[in-house]
Amino acid sequence: MVLLAASVHESGFAQTEGRVQKGREIAFDRNKGNCLACHWVKGAELPGEVGPPLVAMGVRFPERAALRDQIWDASRRNPETLMPPYGRHGILTELEIDLLVDFVHTL
Ligand code: HEC
Repeated sequence: MVLLAASVHESGFAQTEGRVQKGREIAFDRNKGNCLACHWVKGAELPGEVGPPLVAMGVRFPERAALRDQIWDASRRNPETLMPPYGRHGILTELEIDLLVDFVHTL
């Protein structure tokens, strides 16, 4: 019983790790999120400074849904925003946005 619980827990953890890693790739990929064009993210080389550094995201966005909204369509919060509406314009798929949110929430 104990063994079973431990292995279930481990595979859940590995799954989450995999999603975060995929989200990171999307964020760093110039043809996908290209978030580094405007944001400093830990591990980024020569990031842009148009947007705020993506730090303490779990604290800034305790609600995952609010973070997803920001990425899906930043103009909802700021109609003048320079940030592309990744979901509304179909720049990224819903799955890619979910993976991104998993990654950004760890920052
Ligand atoms: C063209 C520039 C640009 C790009 C590319 C961009 N952003 Fe932004 N982002 C901004 C700006 C500017 C803001 C500041 C708030 C606003 O104006 O909407 C912002 C705000 C944010 C915020 C809110 C930060 C806070 O502390 O309130 C998050 C989260 C965010 N961006 C995530 C992302 C992610 C993830 C990507 C890549 C998928 C991305 N951004 C790509 C310009 C950009």
